[in-house]
Amino acid sequence: MLLGLDIGGTKCAVVIGRLDENGRPEIMEKKVLPTDKPVYEMIGLLFSTAATLLSQYDGAGSLKGIGICCGGPLSSKDGKILSPPNLPGWDNIPIVELAEQQFGVKAFLQNDANACAVAEWKYGAGNGVNNMIFLTFGTGMGAGLILDGRLYTGISDLAGEVGHLRLSETGPVGFGKAGSFEGYCSGGGIAQLAQIKAREKLQMGTPVSFCPTLKDLPDITAKSVAEAALEGDKTALDVYNTCATYLGRGLSVLIDILNPELIVLGSIYGRAKSLLEPGMMEVIRKEAISTSSLACSIVPAALEENIGDIAALSLALISSEC
Ligand code: BGC
Ligand code: NA
Repeated sequence: MLLGLDIGGTKCAVVIGRLDENGRPEIMEKKVLPTDKPVYEMIGLLFSTAATLLSQYDGAGSLKGIGICCGGPLSSKDGKILSPPNLPGWDNIPIVELAEQQFGVKAFLQNDANACAVAEWKYGAGNGVNNMIFLTFGTGMGAGLILDGRLYTGISDLAGEVGHLRLSETGPVGFGKAGSFEGYCSGGGIAQLAQIKAREKLQMGTPVSFCPTLKDLPDITAKSVAEAALEGDKTALDVYNTCATYLGRGLSVLIDILNPELIVLGSIYGRAKSLLEPGMMEVIRKEAISTSSLACSIVPAALEENIGDIAALSLALISSEC
């Protein structure tokens, strides 16, 4: 059996899995918990949840390895979570050591975007491709880079921290920086954009379907705005068009630098592709070197909502082989 922990800024997943007959990680059991407790309390809860799930599979063989995916910055080599912008308080956490002490088997930590890139590459949309980029596009914006047939991590495990890129002087804040790629293209960034635009409209007396009064501003989410946009709300459409424009800009930079064959986009893109694709493609066609952009396909993650779970189980498989 394999244990996967997927630690995200909004929610965490505890996954128990095994290899299927084709040697692919398969989810047996999964429990999702909101990331709403102080760090050590949260880790304790993840471990006790895992222990409970594992005890239900007593007869299914022993635990072989643990895989942990988490938002960066982190050090995979040292097994430490360093200072992720979307996990306040999770600074210098020796998560690998803690997990190994708790369960008595090897654990392996990897940046969530990197792990998802490998999962999509091996088991999803990237099958057979040697140069691909995976972008998380969820609570945060991070990239995993598969270059010339291997995961590129950089000297300090920080390759692909694209959420930190500045795309404009001002704008929604992400990764501690206004106008960053994560500021425009993440769940929190979309909510910020929507708050700004909804406030303007409401103050002019124009109704906004996803935010009836000024008091509702804090409750806006990327999801509620997407639903309103799909029903034709003008403010919501405007928010997604802005996001699409900056998504196109960010991707153009990556296309120009890396000349990838494939770009796979995670969470929000899978749910809001029809709202984002046209604006994004228009910008890419204008901004990126055309030979490069024409050679590149851009698709939503094939593993869909399971991607983080499969990614964590793939890491558990690696740790079991160490
Ligand atoms: C982090 C990345 C991570 C992404 C998604 C970003 O804020 O810096 O490392 O991949 O969020 O969790
Ligand atoms: Na990365």
